Amino acid sequence: MKKIELTRRTFISGTGASLLAAGSGMRKIVPEVAVQQAPAASTPLSGDSNREERMQWWKAARFGMFIHFGVYSTIGRHEWVMEDEGVPVVEYAPRAATFHPAPGSQRAWARLAKQAGMKYMVMTSKHHEGFCNFNTKLTNYAAPKQGPGRDLIGEYVEAARAEGLRVGFYYSLMDWHHPDGARCATDEDARKRFVDYTHGLIHELMSNYGKIDVLWYDVAWPLDANGWESVRMNEMVLHLQPEIIVNNRNQLPGDFSTPEQHITAETGGRAWETCMTLNDSWGYQVADDNWKTSKTVIRNLISCVRDSGNYLLNIGPKPDGSVPDPSVRVLREVGEWMAVNGHSIYNSDPCQVRRSNYASFTRVGNTLYMHVHFWPGGYVAISGLMTKVKSAKLVKTGETVPFKQDDFRVRLTDLPMKAPDSPVTTIAIECESEPTQDTDYVRKNKPRIGV
Ligand code: GLC
Repeated sequence: MKKIELTRRTFISGTGASLLAAGSGMRKIVPEVAVQQAPAASTPLSGDSNREERMQWWKAARFGMFIHFGVYSTIGRHEWVMEDEGVPVVEYAPRAATFHPAPGSQRAWARLAKQAGMKYMVMTSKHHEGFCNFNTKLTNYAAPKQGPGRDLIGEYVEAARAEGLRVGFYYSLMDWHHPDGARCATDEDARKRFVDYTHGLIHELMSNYGKIDVLWYDVAWPLDANGWESVRMNEMVLHLQPEIIVNNRNQLPGDFSTPEQHITAETGGRAWETCMTLNDSWGYQVADDNWKTSKTVIRNLISCVRDSGNYLLNIGPKPDGSVPDPSVRVLREVGEWMAVNGHSIYNSDPCQVRRSNYASFTRVGNTLYMHVHFWPGGYVAISGLMTKVKSAKLVKTGETVPFKQDDFRVRLTDLPMKAPDSPVTTIAIECESEPTQDTDYVRKNKPRIGV
């Protein structure tokens, strides 16, 4: 029998704070079981043939809302509290009876997402704690049978659809509650039961809520793709939801990669989505006051979009379902900016131009959008733009911006001292052909003094 050495770290795709906090995560697990063969890199996988088609809406959408909501929200100490504070299951599970989100919460999240300019939502259906936010025949540890007394996922699906947003489910494979959640790694009977349970829950999620747009797996500890029977898992998902897209956290490549808390573009045209918290916690954490500003959020969104990525930004609602005030404020500010500047984000093309100390860039066709986050006033300039500028205007006011261009720079002049837009002012620069930048050209060729 083939033995594979696995550590939990192997299974956590991201490098978030919660991962670092999971100090005990290096214990070695040696599965006794070898199941279906992992697919060779060249083996076609389910969904390979029509990936472009399935991903089209998502690529145009760019910006989504992540929602972490569960029993941990009632504790207010981050969604890893159960493991990070070593809370026994018998102490943790009864908290589910005290979880009473107000009806209509999901509608408020969906409205907020729409206002922020987001086009899709991804909500935790089951996080590592094992509690199911949805109606299931497979466990009583589920919202309708516990404190909420309702199907929180059903309500969420309706709310997202009512705002015209696409619907995604987050699903954690790792489970700290289920009796087989850890021993499945060393006991073949337990593995079979746990895989049946896991595939069963996913089957319900894919069958009971109409069309679902994204399935967002998380943490595959303690099994690998063989152990989870991930090939069969994805086949089932695509069979039940032929247009769905899935991420890469069930140990298969899936349709897109999931850099966590950092913006790192994929290469070779592979799709990617950065997921990020608004403070430092995914689930509600009362004392976490490390909120990002709307300027940071907008700059991050621009950085993702410039390199053809998506940005999935998280809210961690309070136990009553209300969204923490700082999140609401930041998302509204982002929404005001998106209402004016959104056309420079959605449907944008990859943008090669990137060099500036006070601006970042996106591109739509031959139009370069210069997003100035530190407004110097008077004029701004771009070095080494290899394309001729035809015209420029301030997106916020529509005013034309005069410019002068020579071989080495374009200088956009007569700008007001005070930034016309907040927190980032965008200038649309229409070029003769696709704008590209070559600052090496400037360094090498700009005449030196006296030459
Ligand atoms: C990590 C964390 C988890 C969070 C997720 C979001 O895997 O374990 O708490 O839900 O990242 O990407």
